[in-house]
Amino acid sequence: MSNARTAPSPTPVDRLRDYDYTNFYFGAGSEPFGILEPFGEWWRDAEFGSGYYLYSLPMESAPSVRVAIDDPKRGESLEGLINFASYNYLGISYRPEVIEAVCDGVRKYGAGASGSPILSGSMDLHKAFEHEIADFKGKQAALIFPSGYSANVGVIAGLMRPGDLIVADKLAHASIVDGMILSKATSRFFRHNDPDDLDRKLEGFPGKKLVIVEGVYSMDGDLADLPDILEVCRRHGARLMIDEAHSTFVYGSNGRGVAEHFGLDEEVDIHLGTFSKSLGALGGFVAGRRELIWYLRGFARARVFSCALPPGVVAGLRKALAIAASEPELRETLWDNARYMHSLLAERQVDVGDSTSQVISIMIRDDAAIFQIAEDLLHAGVYMNPIRYPAVGKHKSRFRMSVSAAHTRADLEEGAEIIATVLRKHGKCP
Ligand SMILES: Cc1ncc(COP(=O)(O)O)c(C=O)c1O
Repeated sequence: MSNARTAPSPTPVDRLRDYDYTNFYFGAGSEPFGILEPFGEWWRDAEFGSGYYLYSLPMESAPSVRVAIDDPKRGESLEGLINFASYNYLGISYRPEVIEAVCDGVRKYGAGASGSPILSGSMDLHKAFEHEIADFKGKQAALIFPSGYSANVGVIAGLMRPGDLIVADKLAHASIVDGMILSKATSRFFRHNDPDDLDRKLEGFPGKKLVIVEGVYSMDGDLADLPDILEVCRRHGARLMIDEAHSTFVYGSNGRGVAEHFGLDEEVDIHLGTFSKSLGALGGFVAGRRELIWYLRGFARARVFSCALPPGVVAGLRKALAIAASEPELRETLWDNARYMHSLLAERQVDVGDSTSQVISIMIRDDAAIFQIAEDLLHAGVYMNPIRYPAVGKHKSRFRMSVSAAHTRADLEEGAEIIATVLRKHGKCP
């Protein structure tokens, strides 16, 4: 049992208010902290009354297929929940060899890198890992970053300048959007996966142009329409960058991602990825031609002005990469599991939107109901995160399910049945 916090009596659903500045910030006054009190008031209502407490629930175990979660509302520790919330697609993060490698790294190098990668923070193992990532991706060179977030921000803002044009898919991740903002280039968004709209957004722009897509979209689980998007880029002389956060080690005959899956690995100009998903730890990377990486080494400020990844993390990542690269059967099992889960949900007529990958959106489309459904799922034995505005558009709320190679068929069957039963209770599936 955990320390219970006292939950205020629930407020009616019609008092649910969005996580949005307009709910508590009116721009008045000259005190920067003027937002804190109204936010606190909003949070007191939103936390237990509306269900926002369901975010950041403390996990009391490794992010494996069965997890223990602390429920602060009821003051209980829930054990043995089927975990569909973690990005650990290959189940690598808690493999004994990886844990051992992390410990060896810490024993040899200590807890941190204690410096920027361009100053004293690059150890021999950081350099070796960059070469290994470049080899794995089949590219001339690679750079590692403290996170996938900082990789996007650093690469985009490092490469593009005011007066240039960046066009990204409308569903691009926040780190792509933040990189675009930071670059001060002209920023446009094309309709999700719509090459004709991309064509219109690029039309007539005379200067430097960068188009950005994701391999697998993180909230919808569908793939970039890469062949058609690439054709539009080439016609307009635009460079193409792909963020393979959710597709590296998952798609492609060597696990290099969606670009490889479409046979277009050589055509894409900038390849980005993270180590927080399939490799189960932390960090990001960019890979591509040598001159590009050489330039970014000095001009990706999110890397230059931030401490290098802790050596223990890098030591674990090197082992995780070796496992992912040498055990293609992990990818095959992940695919078997993803396909099986799609079929189990289809049999139960659960709406999965456009998802076709291991990221499955369980569409609820009801911003008010999703928190109650999340709470019921939790107490029925399934852990999945409710996703709603502003992470997705209004009335597009859903659960984001991650299937892993480590799930057994029994986990998937039990999970699908629990999900269908809870959704049925709420009128969200027949
Ligand atoms: C498409 C995409 N890019 C980048 C990131 C950021 O990666 P990280 O969490 O490793 O910083 C995420 C995180 O979910 C993502 O989904």
